[in-house]
Amino acid sequence: MRKNIVAGNWKMNKSFGEAEALICDILDGLDKIEEPLADVVICPPAVYLEMGMDLVRETPVCVGAQNMSQFASGAYTGEISASMLQSMEVQYCLIGHSERRQYFSETDAQLAGKVDIALANQVWPIFCCGEALAEREAGNHFNVVKSQIENSLFHLSPKQFTDIVIAYEPIWAIGTGVTASSDQAQEMHQFIRGFINEKYGKEVADETSILYGGSCNAKNAKELFAKPDIDGGLIGGASLVAEDFLTIIKSF
Ligand code: PGA
Repeated sequence: MRKNIVAGNWKMNKSFGEAEALICDILDGLDKIEEPLADVVICPPAVYLEMGMDLVRETPVCVGAQNMSQFASGAYTGEISASMLQSMEVQYCLIGHSERRQYFSETDAQLAGKVDIALANQVWPIFCCGEALAEREAGNHFNVVKSQIENSLFHLSPKQFTDIVIAYEPIWAIGTGVTASSDQAQEMHQFIRGFINEKYGKEVADETSILYGGSCNAKNAKELFAKPDIDGGLIGGASLVAEDFLTIIKSF
C-alpha cells in the first residue's frame, strides 16, 4: 500500500550502546510529534536487530535489516536468512543497495532471489536502484534504473508487487552531500511509476511507495517530499543523528 515512509539506513555504524541511545532518542522525539505523517523504519546493523525490535515494541516504528541471504537456510557461513528475520518479526529488508551491488558484487538475478525469499517470509523488501554518475552523464540513467527493476522485480505477480517499496538512490548522491535536485528525483520517480503502470496497471503503480535516497537531509527533505511521486526517503548519514532524522520525519 502506498504510504509515506522514512527509513534510516545506518550502514556499518554505531556501537551497541550508541545504537540503543539513538533508537531511544528517536522514539522520544516521535512521542512529541502529534501525528507523524510517515511510517518510520530503522535499519540498524544486523547484530542490533534484536535490541531494536525490543525497543520499538508497542510503538509504530518498524525495524528493517540491511541485507539478507538469497538462500533459505543451511551451510552459508555468515549469512542471515529471511526466515530468521521473520522469526524475529523484523518487517523490512533493504535489498540491492548500491554498496551491496558494488562491494559484494550482488547481481540483478541474485537480488531477484532475495526479493522472492523475503516475500515468501513476509519480509517487505525496500528495493534499491540507481545509476552511477557516468551513466547519468551518458544519458543512460532511465535505462539503467528500468533494467534493474525489470530484472529483479518484474517476475512478481501484481499482488506480490504491492508488497514492494522502491528506493531510488542515484549512486553519485549517496554519502556525497550532492543530492539530486527535487526535479531530477521527481522526474525519475515519475518514470519509475510510469513503467510500473505499463507492466502492472495504474492501481498497482499508484499504490507503490517510491522513496528517494542520496544525501537527503534535514534541509532538503521538505522540498523532495513535496513532489507528487516522492513518497519519502531512505536516509543514510542523516539517520545517525536523532534530531536530523526527526526533522526529516516531520518534513511531510
Ligand atoms: P546518504 O545514504 O543519505 O548518506 O547519502 C543513503 C543510502 O545509502 O541509503
